[in-house]
Amino acid sequence: MAYTIPRGTFDIIPPDSTKWQALKERFQALAASFGYKEITTPIFEQSDLFERSSGESSDVVQKEMYRFTDKKGRVFALRPEGTAPVVRAFVEHNLAALGNQKLYYWGPMFRYDRPQAGRYRQFYQYGLEFIGSNNPYWDAELISFLWLFIKGLGLNKMHLEINSVGCPNCSSIYEQALREFYKPHLEKLCPDCQKRFVSKPRRLLDCKVPTCKNIASGAPSQLDYLDDECREHFQAVQDYLVRMEIPFMINPKIVRGLDYYTNTAFEIIYEGLGAQNSMAGGGRYNGLIEQIGGKPTPAIGFAGGLERLLIALENEGLEIGKEAVPDLFVVAMGDEARAFILPEINKLRHAGLAVEFDPDKASFKAQLKAANHCKARYAAIIGEDELRNGTVALKDLNSGEQESVALPDLASRLLKLKTGNDIS
Ligand code: HAM
Repeated sequence: MAYTIPRGTFDIIPPDSTKWQALKERFQALAASFGYKEITTPIFEQSDLFERSSGESSDVVQKEMYRFTDKKGRVFALRPEGTAPVVRAFVEHNLAALGNQKLYYWGPMFRYDRPQAGRYRQFYQYGLEFIGSNNPYWDAELISFLWLFIKGLGLNKMHLEINSVGCPNCSSIYEQALREFYKPHLEKLCPDCQKRFVSKPRRLLDCKVPTCKNIASGAPSQLDYLDDECREHFQAVQDYLVRMEIPFMINPKIVRGLDYYTNTAFEIIYEGLGAQNSMAGGGRYNGLIEQIGGKPTPAIGFAGGLERLLIALENEGLEIGKEAVPDLFVVAMGDEARAFILPEINKLRHAGLAVEFDPDKASFKAQLKAANHCKARYAAIIGEDELRNGTVALKDLNSGEQESVALPDLASRLLKLKTGNDIS
């Protein structure tokens, strides 16, 4: 029987795994340089955590959650996103006592959705969460991080859109205004929008059905319904972004798919991604920590999809990640040489050198071919003469030059060659 991978999932195999690794390293290094520390949470959580935080009526909860019941009848869900688990951990470990928290994560998320280019059932997110302050500086700093990360990869075909969805007060006044606006058009709306009219009128703004899109173009803007505090906050975020030289445009129609957002909401849109053009998105969630059982604490975060980043890199012809190549390939002729060299290989590896050896290849030619195939920089050749003299013939596989090196000196010789400090 042949097994196949579940629909909407993928394997990350070499050489692609090198790109994933490189992206992770870039992300982690940049996050660390902004003072963020890694947090890792389980892949599954109580289903209720997501139902409460993402919103009962959100698509994520209604249609996309992988729920399961364990042997004791407890209902869990594979995490569809990373923010609620981070907040759960923040509350559970009382991280509030340690002051503002700057946390980053990286890992698989799960959403049962119709798979297509850039949309998967298991996908990987990288994300930051800043918990503890409502200062608009943090909104701008977090957005600048995201912009720098994506720009730093060499990508160009994207833009940043920002919006403010206000606090719960101005948001509910706005939603009422939206219902008033949509009421006369109700019959013309698609069935989904008719349902959302009551529970989530804001979602009507980003419906892709042409009639709904057309009606939405005349809808009132949230920005006209912000109270003074929310307007000032949004203005301050913009001022910081201008000072940080992060280009952005205001899109009052940004509607995030999850319910927990307050004030700042933003997305990075990539032009070459087709329908799934949101490369990353996030915003403030000042009410979520209290909702999950903590003390009221303001917070902001974002998450981006790794697969979409890789599609964008390919779209712009950008390379990332160099395949690791061995420093040395050991070519040993005969059983005696093979047995003799094993402890030496260990010593070289212990010294930090990347060494490969393949006892399945018997002939000199086959071993040298393997050395070239894995792009080793040097080959250490041990035949009868070398065995007798306690030396190796060290061959530079780029230039073809060869020198004899005493075995005890091999590690230091290679390390010198590797770091370019060779003064002999
Ligand atoms: P989100 O907008 O649902 O936000 O997802 C963030 C990013 O994950 C999207 O922009 C997209 O790149 C990627 N993504 C989402 N669904 C899929 C999918 N099915 N296949 C591939 N990629 C996908 C959140 O998840 C929030 N937790 C972000 C956040 C953090 N807000 C505050 N803090």
